[in-house]
Amino acid sequence: MLKNPDLLLKKLYLSIDRIIQDINLPKEKIATYVKMLSDIFNRNDEQTINYMQSNVLRIAYLIYFYPINVYKCLHLIDFYYQYFSNKKAFLDYGAGPLTFYSACALMNLEGEKFFAYDKNQDILYLGKSLIKDLSFKLYNKMNFSLPDEKVNVIFLGNVLAELEEKNITPFLEKMIKMIDMENNLLIIIEPGTKKGFKNIITAKQFLNRRGFKFLNACPTEHCPVDENDWCHENIPFPRSTLIEYIEQKTGLNNKFINFSYGFFSTNTKKAFVFHENTFKVVSNLFVRKGEYAIYLCGNMGIRLFSILKKHLNELNKEFKNLSRGDIVYIKNFYQVSNFYRLDVNSEVKIIKKFRSSNFS
Ligand SMILES: C[S@@+](CC[C@H](N)C(=O)[O-])C[C@H]1O[C@@H](n2cnc3c(N)ncnc32)[C@H](O)[C@@H]1O
Repeated sequence: MLKNPDLLLKKLYLSIDRIIQDINLPKEKIATYVKMLSDIFNRNDEQTINYMQSNVLRIAYLIYFYPINVYKCLHLIDFYYQYFSNKKAFLDYGAGPLTFYSACALMNLEGEKFFAYDKNQDILYLGKSLIKDLSFKLYNKMNFSLPDEKVNVIFLGNVLAELEEKNITPFLEKMIKMIDMENNLLIIIEPGTKKGFKNIITAKQFLNRRGFKFLNACPTEHCPVDENDWCHENIPFPRSTLIEYIEQKTGLNNKFINFSYGFFSTNTKKAFVFHENTFKVVSNLFVRKGEYAIYLCGNMGIRLFSILKKHLNELNKEFKNLSRGDIVYIKNFYQVSNFYRLDVNSEVKIIKKFRSSNFS
């Protein structure tokens, strides 16, 4: 089965091209509306206009933001594929143009019912034609309403970001009333910002109190990220010709995309067990003169690890291939003041790459 996110994104771009051929909107105009939408997202005050009610802003979302968010979902489904086994009923709440189901369709994810709800239902219909193009099987199982039964999977993509902080917990309370407590998965994606990460932590604290375990590939239950910092993924984003044009015109730049996320369940077992020498990569690789360095999160918290280029050998050469989100095993390292050093005796083994695709 094809699971490479980059190839699947190309397939998505072809579908989007087919949809926008029917919409008579010059690309200069599209760029203007994308910029307008981006300004709305960047405003710190409460959003005063409901952007999804505007036909052109919905199209701008579909062309520019939707592929970015589908790409995030593709990576998460790929990395946590096992969490989706035996899930029958899905709900995408605040679904926009059916971002999550587009990724499910591309990934050929199995399921019986796919409910989608958005406070602006019109945008769901924009995504519907795309899903029809991507997977007729999933298209036939979609239902644009709140579920009339308990669901196994709830997906909330960039929705908490639109809520006032005080409304996040009541909102999640409403969500978990719709979930099957025996067999479930709750997925939250937020922008890779300080606020997005804070929303994930707020959700984690609330959901833990309701019996949900945090299933992210994190080495420790006690997140060591300090209050003024945030943990996020950062992946290069393969842009379409139209997206490149929009970015040239608007100055927007999504060559790399950032996001934070949380997987939660009351019944699913965490996919990764971290031992003393296993770590999650939480920064990009720093390539310095004569040295590689990177931040790793482990039982002892977040620490800087480095290796001199002259010490690279068969056993440890994987160090220079590490990227954010990977899970890595390291043997034989020692402390030098406030960081850890690897040398010719060190072993480095990547247990799982976060980004299995080849794009860079
Ligand atoms: C930024 S868009 C994200 C769309 C999609 N989930 C994604 O990740 O691409 C947020 C969506 O949430 C919807 N939304 C925000 N608050 C909502 C609420 N209280 N109830 C239902 N939908 C909501 C908006 O209409 C919008 O379509």
